[in-house]
Amino acid sequence: MQTIEKKLIRTHWCTDISKAETGNTVTVAGWVSTIRDLGGVIFIELRDRSGLFQLVADPQKNSEIHKVFSTLKNEFVISATGVVSERPEDTFNPNLSTGEIEIFPASVEILNKSKLPPFLIEDDAEISEDLRMKYRYLDMRRPKILDKMILRHKITLATRNYLNENGFLEIETPVLVKATPEGARDYLVPSRNYPGKWYALPQSPQLFKQILMVGGIERYYQVARCFRDEDLRSDRQPEFTQIDIEMSFVTQDEILAMTEGLVENIFKVKGIEINTPFPCLTYKEAMEMYGSDKPDIRFELHLINVSDIFAKSNFAAFSSEIQKGGEVRALKIPGIAEYSRKEMDDIRNLAISYGAKGLAWITYMPDGTHKSPLNKYLSEDELTNIKERSGATPGDVVFFVCDKPKIVFDVLGRLRLHFGNKLNLIDRTSHKLLWIVDFPMFDWNEDENRFEPMHHPFTSPNSSDFEYLDSEPLKARALAHDLVYNGVEIGGGSIRIHSKQLQNKILNLLGFSDEEAKEKFGFLMEALEYGAPPHGGIALGHDRIVAMLAGVSSIREVIAFPKNSQARCLMSDAPTEVSEDQLQELKIKQVIAKKD
Ligand code: AMO
Repeated sequence: MQTIEKKLIRTHWCTDISKAETGNTVTVAGWVSTIRDLGGVIFIELRDRSGLFQLVADPQKNSEIHKVFSTLKNEFVISATGVVSERPEDTFNPNLSTGEIEIFPASVEILNKSKLPPFLIEDDAEISEDLRMKYRYLDMRRPKILDKMILRHKITLATRNYLNENGFLEIETPVLVKATPEGARDYLVPSRNYPGKWYALPQSPQLFKQILMVGGIERYYQVARCFRDEDLRSDRQPEFTQIDIEMSFVTQDEILAMTEGLVENIFKVKGIEINTPFPCLTYKEAMEMYGSDKPDIRFELHLINVSDIFAKSNFAAFSSEIQKGGEVRALKIPGIAEYSRKEMDDIRNLAISYGAKGLAWITYMPDGTHKSPLNKYLSEDELTNIKERSGATPGDVVFFVCDKPKIVFDVLGRLRLHFGNKLNLIDRTSHKLLWIVDFPMFDWNEDENRFEPMHHPFTSPNSSDFEYLDSEPLKARALAHDLVYNGVEIGGGSIRIHSKQLQNKILNLLGFSDEEAKEKFGFLMEALEYGAPPHGGIALGHDRIVAMLAGVSSIREVIAFPKNSQARCLMSDAPTEVSEDQLQELKIKQVIAKKD
């Protein structure tokens, strides 16, 4: 029989020990962080999750302990018991909360050894991301990584507290679900019981949260893991976390106000006070002013519509495009009139890489004159109109892009961001939140010649635009809302369709026949027929919010075990092959197609 150990491995966390503890016996446990051997006396800094504590072994005082200390190496796991004593004043460490105390242990136990770590466990160490992720358990022993885990925990807790106080129930929805097209590619899981059939991992709990509303739950939330097999970027992971929210019997304004209260509480975790209500722009306003539906409003620079001026001009490249439904918009950049030819060519190439056919500009010279390749095509009046409309002053350059509106917005929106960064126009200390509303219901997919939902197929059209659904669907606006923080989309949601007929109509518009709609979404459609209340909600990108509040540019930094940009877990090496037996059990025969 195993005997029960009475002696505690730890009585105190390192930083729980204060000067007031002097004279008391404590037992601390953790990892050997640093070892300094000063002519026989060995100083160990012990690290646990709370911080550091100094242990000292003096061969004159206790040769046994000193012997153990001399065998210790970095990252060994030890427990040490001793009486807390004050350090001599000249050895105080003002950087540590425990910098004025130490123990000369009376006993030390080595709980485990450690191999030499592949990198130094300290904040300033320069380590490649791949190596950090392979040894993530060592990486997270570094205080700056640990701090992010703690911040994430606190934000999750603040979220739960706020939503619980506001009458929401936290409910888990399934992770093995039916594959329903939601935008991204699904991760699929084969079913053993039904060979040839597959579950999908949820891209979001969208349909289940709506059905919870039909179930009378009224207010639901979930810290929900979502799975999307899409191309990865610094703000995208194949599995990520949403704060998923749904409410019944609410207006869109109530959803926005509830979310604002939540975001206010989340920001308080970092001591940041934000003002509510957040400003709100329609999609049209955002595109026309900033060329983006997630504008960074920490700096000005607005797009300017000059289509009417060019429409009548002799500049055929522009005027003919305008006749075909194109537009010309301008962006005035201050203080770059002195740019060299090469610098201007670089900007043109940048615009082309963003999708423009070309880039035109007028340079307003410091001496009051202007230079432009457009000069010969534009009349004095037209030039004066452009100067007045753009408010150009000496030193400015006004750029022009002419194309289909989508391309004009995208190119100028990205140029705007480029200059915002390059010219340091962005106030990095500010926290600018804003709502974007009145999105179009649909986008036109030119490659596939069909409508696509701007959000998802369950978003309600604005009731005043119902008429457009039959005549001009692209004109119909949705009751959708996105939340944007410093130019990043941190949340999105909508008022949902709660009538089966309307849901069917929207699915038809999106190219699903009645049969396909029934086959893919029948369970939702049926639920809508049993007294579905009006409802709506939002999902916040938890990883994105935590990353931004932690001041890091990649969400990988705030996820304990993230995937790399090739969707691989470098620590466990997932994804891996599976055994023939496993496949046989699933009645799956593998044929690996060659990569195209
Ligand atoms: P949406 O697809 O807009 O909405 O997602 C909501 C928010 O989740 C974050 N997000 C991501 N974060 C990290 N990695 C990803 N791959 C990723 N994809 C999205 C974004 C985004 O704003 N069911 C709807 C919500 C609703 O209508 O209530 C949905 O999932 O911050």
